[in-house]
This record gives sequence, C-alpha cells and structure tokens, in this order.
Amino acid sequence: MKLTRRRFFRSIIDYLPVVAVGSLSYPFFRFILFSEGLKREKVLIPIKRLISIVTKISHPPMFIVKEKNNKILALDSHCTHMGCIVNYDPDKNIFICPCHGSEYNIDGVNIRGPTKRPLYKEPAKIIDDKVVVDYIYYKIL
Ligand code: FES
Repeated sequence: MKLTRRRFFRSIIDYLPVVAVGSLSYPFFRFILFSEGLKREKVLIPIKRLISIVTKISHPPMFIVKEKNNKILALDSHCTHMGCIVNYDPDKNIFICPCHGSEYNIDGVNIRGPTKRPLYKEPAKIIDDKVVVDYIYYKIL
C-alpha cells in the first residue's frame, strides 16, 4: 500500500486522541501511584507561648484559640475561599481574609462571604505542657 500524503495525515489524526488521553492522564496516574498521600506534621507548641486568646503560628500557618472551657482549637489559617492567609482582628474578635474579605468568627465558622465553608480545624490536644497539633497539608480548598 502506497503511503500518500492524505493517508499519512489521516493516520496522524487517527492517533491524536490516544496521544491526548495519554498526556492528559499522565499527571493523574502519577499522583495516584507515586504520591505520599496526605502529608502530616506533628506540631508541638509550649502552652506558655499561648499568652492571648488567639496565637498565630507561622509554620505551618494556623491559629491556636483558647476556648472558654479550657480546650484548645487549632484553625488552619488558609481561607477556604481561595487559600489566602487570614488575619486575626482582636478588636472585632474575628478572622478576616485580606484577599476578598471573607470573615470567620473565633470558632472558625464563616460569617461573611465569598467563602461558603468554615476554616479547617486541625486535630489538637494538650499533652503535658504542650499543645500537640496534627497538621494536615494539601487540603482541598
Ligand atoms: S481567598 Fe479569602 S476571601 Fe477569597
């Protein structure tokens, strides 16, 4: 069978979907097969460092909130709208996102949009004289 120009281009077009699907699915399979899963980090914070009701931790970014019942709340500082780092406003006692203005109350509950979800709560407990936070990276925002 003679290879004409028409047949040559036709064979390229025939294999184009296979190449497209292969190159688009490569990142997906790479993530599934070789990812380490959810990356976690145990963060230890001395209790004596918690001098106010809300303490900002820079790495990983989170706030430690002392609740009234002597419990500890660890809130991820990433805004659940698009991931900016929220700030604590001590005068209003709320968290405010500098990017689009979402607001969260002291418990991390969203009180003003555009976000529709509360801040992520990290598992935290007090062991001896430290707050132990099991910080989880790679949340879906
Ligand atoms: S990223 Fe926080 S409001 Fe948009």
